[in-house]
Amino acid sequence: MSNPLRLGVAGLGTVGASVLKIVRNNAAALAARAGRPVVVTAVSARDRMRDRGLDLTGIAWHDDPAALAADPSVDVVLELIGGASGPAEAVVRAALFAGKPVITANKALLARHGVELARIAEAKGVALAFEAAVAGGIPVIKTLKESLSANHVTRVYGILNGTCNYMLTRMETEQLSYDVCLAEAQRLGYAEADPTFDVEGYDTAHKLALLTSLAFGVEVDADAIYVEGISAITPADIEAADELGYRIKLLGVARRTETGIEARVHPTMVPKSSAIARVDGVLNAVAIDGDAVGEIVLVGPGAGGGPTASSVIGDVVDVARGHAVPVFGRPVADLAPYERAAIQAHEGGYYVRLSVNDRPGAFAAIAARMAEKGISLESIVQRRRAPRSEAPRRDGAHVASVEPQPVILITYATTEAAIRGALEAISSDGHIASTPRLIRIEEL
Ligand code: NDP
Ligand code: HSE
Repeated sequence: MSNPLRLGVAGLGTVGASVLKIVRNNAAALAARAGRPVVVTAVSARDRMRDRGLDLTGIAWHDDPAALAADPSVDVVLELIGGASGPAEAVVRAALFAGKPVITANKALLARHGVELARIAEAKGVALAFEAAVAGGIPVIKTLKESLSANHVTRVYGILNGTCNYMLTRMETEQLSYDVCLAEAQRLGYAEADPTFDVEGYDTAHKLALLTSLAFGVEVDADAIYVEGISAITPADIEAADELGYRIKLLGVARRTETGIEARVHPTMVPKSSAIARVDGVLNAVAIDGDAVGEIVLVGPGAGGGPTASSVIGDVVDVARGHAVPVFGRPVADLAPYERAAIQAHEGGYYVRLSVNDRPGAFAAIAARMAEKGISLESIVQRRRAPRSEAPRRDGAHVASVEPQPVILITYATTEAAIRGALEAISSDGHIASTPRLIRIEEL
């Protein structure tokens, strides 16, 4: 068998530690697939003294991850630190400039610097592989880059964040609080170092930016994506969705429209009967519509050490075998500029939750504002009268003060511009007591 492929691993956290364990435990099978032994020769992390359950005997340690690029015992650098800048960016740049292939799980880095890094990789003639960066253990990058080459892709969408899906599932099925579910996702190693990236939708947007580039042959542009996270979702929304035949999922959706690419990340009402509604817990799902294949849906674990390391090591085997494909599926010079379709042009149904002041004529005024914008209502549900609170008066008598009424509207398909215009008008009429809650409904 030929010379071993020698890996330098930057980052020994959830993903890095799992990579080391699999490389060691599955050495024989891996060598057979790679056509040569695969060994870890050098590592880097912050805390050298931390017990990681790993035997690092005989493996070189570097305090500075960028030193892996210059280490002559390293053929390939694995960047498993995370973050769009700082040490992760430094080690990737150093390795590429040194002419060493790079394998990374870092979607934040690629969403921001992907095109530029791909240019450097091309110029140096080395791989920059990132299967683990999107949907953890699901091999969606290879699927888009290679297996679906025959297709014009018209839409790609899915559940792309394991943390949020895990949280929404447990909030719905066990009525656990948002904070408890987030803490558990962190404990299980699903969340980003800063979980704001997960719950505010940015992590999904980073992944969607990469999928959009691969699907439509355009430059990566995470800033072009409309983003809303799950932090404003309440138990009342989850309960209402259930009663109306929906489940709430954080979706990333990108599709070609006549005015450009519409790419958006937001909590979404999906019909309970749809396949994606049944994707629970840390599972992710990615659906791809291609003109030749039709729709395919890939489902699997979207986060966690084992599944993510599985994708990282898939890339290692490609590098070991010299299997080379351009970073975003085609040479950087052939990527088209990103043309963005405005979110205001989005068309679909909407769930709207209003807290309506209980005055005569309020419902009629709300319905009139919707009608003015050409919005048809599929259903109106007045949830239940909140308990009357007894307010003591100065003269000692008691009068009942009525709390605002929760009212839920489901619209037929309309535009984002129309629904936002209607809600602005309703707010300025003074009929509602707080900011309306709006959740898009997706046709699947
Ligand atoms: P962790 O936070 O668990 O691990 C990060 C590692 O990086 C730690 O070992 C840490 O060292 C090391 N590190 C941080 N700063 C430095 C530095 N300045 N120099 C050297 N080492 C440093 O992250 P994950 O393993 O969860 O994630 C790693 C990457 O994989 C990220 O890009 C993430 O987005 C991505 N990813 C993660 C998934 C998951 O499920 N966790 C799934 C898919 C992708 P120390 O241990 O000493 O603190
Ligand atoms: N924090 C990410 C998630 C890790 O929860 O999906 C996988 O990219």
